[in-house]
Amino acid sequence: MGVGVTGDELRAYREKKGLSQPEFAIWLNDRLQRRYDKQKVSRWENGGERIPAAVAALIKRDMVGIERQGGPALVVVVTNQKGGCAKTVSAVNIASVLALRGYATLLVDCDPQANATQHLGFDCYDLEKQQRTLYYPMHGDMPLRDIIVTVEESGLRLAPASIRLAETEVEIDTQTGGDFVLKEVLEDVRKTFDFVIIDTPPNIGNLTKNAFSTAHTAVIPCQTERFSLLGMGFLLENIGKARRRLNTGLSVLGIIPTIFKKNERNDRDVLAEITQQYGEHMHIFPPVPKASIYAQATSVGRAAVEAAPDVPGAAVYQEVAEALVKERETRLKTEIARVA
Ligand SMILES: Nc1ncnc2c1ncn2[C@@H]1O[C@H](COP(=O)(O)OP(=O)(O)OP(=O)(O)O)[C@@H](O)[C@H]1O
Ligand SMILES: [Mg+2]
Repeated sequence: MGVGVTGDELRAYREKKGLSQPEFAIWLNDRLQRRYDKQKVSRWENGGERIPAAVAALIKRDMVGIERQGGPALVVVVTNQKGGCAKTVSAVNIASVLALRGYATLLVDCDPQANATQHLGFDCYDLEKQQRTLYYPMHGDMPLRDIIVTVEESGLRLAPASIRLAETEVEIDTQTGGDFVLKEVLEDVRKTFDFVIIDTPPNIGNLTKNAFSTAHTAVIPCQTERFSLLGMGFLLENIGKARRRLNTGLSVLGIIPTIFKKNERNDRDVLAEITQQYGEHMHIFPPVPKASIYAQATSVGRAAVEAAPDVPGAAVYQEVAEALVKERETRLKTEIARVA
């Protein structure tokens, strides 16, 4: 399911770009390799014909670039204090699915390791030299929008990180309201984006607590191996504390079992235990299989779902995106609308 565009929105968008209907058809054809003409554009604008999903998605993506007043954003934290359980890969793929569907989506790299930034092909050292990383808005030096970069093709936006973000972890510790700095920083973009996805470090330090304070919902990747399962109780306890003390609206969207090796007995056992222990109270998504494309994709600057849409597990990330779309629709009627 993607996002729709009405005929009136299409006309307003075309006029804002300063294009006539024939020029707009050429602009679209260049991008979508189609053969639309002036008559087609006219029929879409007058409601005589349905606007194709690919056209709607392209327009929605491009609208962010011309300051679309989208939002209000559903803020999602991708979290697990266990290292290497596919938080970054999950955050990048979920955010990319949403962006490819035409939602205005911002991925916030809230981890000093800057893996999401590097995964999407950005040079975090170069961005740091330009002072274009999350450290600066978190330090109060500039609005978040000034550091945002665009991922080609998908139109996903990224607030990049660098190792300097490790200083933020310390600096905010003694600040008044230090758990809410990221929340304040995100105010700048809440009305621009439909989704803000936050990738977090493998700990429950100040940066993760900041993400808990501002998120509407948490997505928990959990590798199907025993040590990951051992930390799950601790993580859920901390999400519970965050809900009581920092952010009453924080929910858990679900657990994504990751890097699943279906031929290994141990993986199957752990998957069954995840379902048995947690399935009654929270949603367990189907497992994302282990596949070399996920590791390869980290070096080509694109999400696996974009580089190879049929990758094993792509359907899981689509399903998570779908659940987020539903969550946003539900929340739009209540809290998001209140804070926006
Ligand atoms: N489904 C998968 N199949 C194979 N490899 C995967 C899969 N998902 C993630 N990986 C690989 O596993 C490693 C860890 O993934 P990732 O960096 O996303 O974990 P993380 O939880 O973000 O780690 P950290 O805790 O350090 O932030 C990476 O090398 C990544 O390419
Ligand atoms: Mg990571």
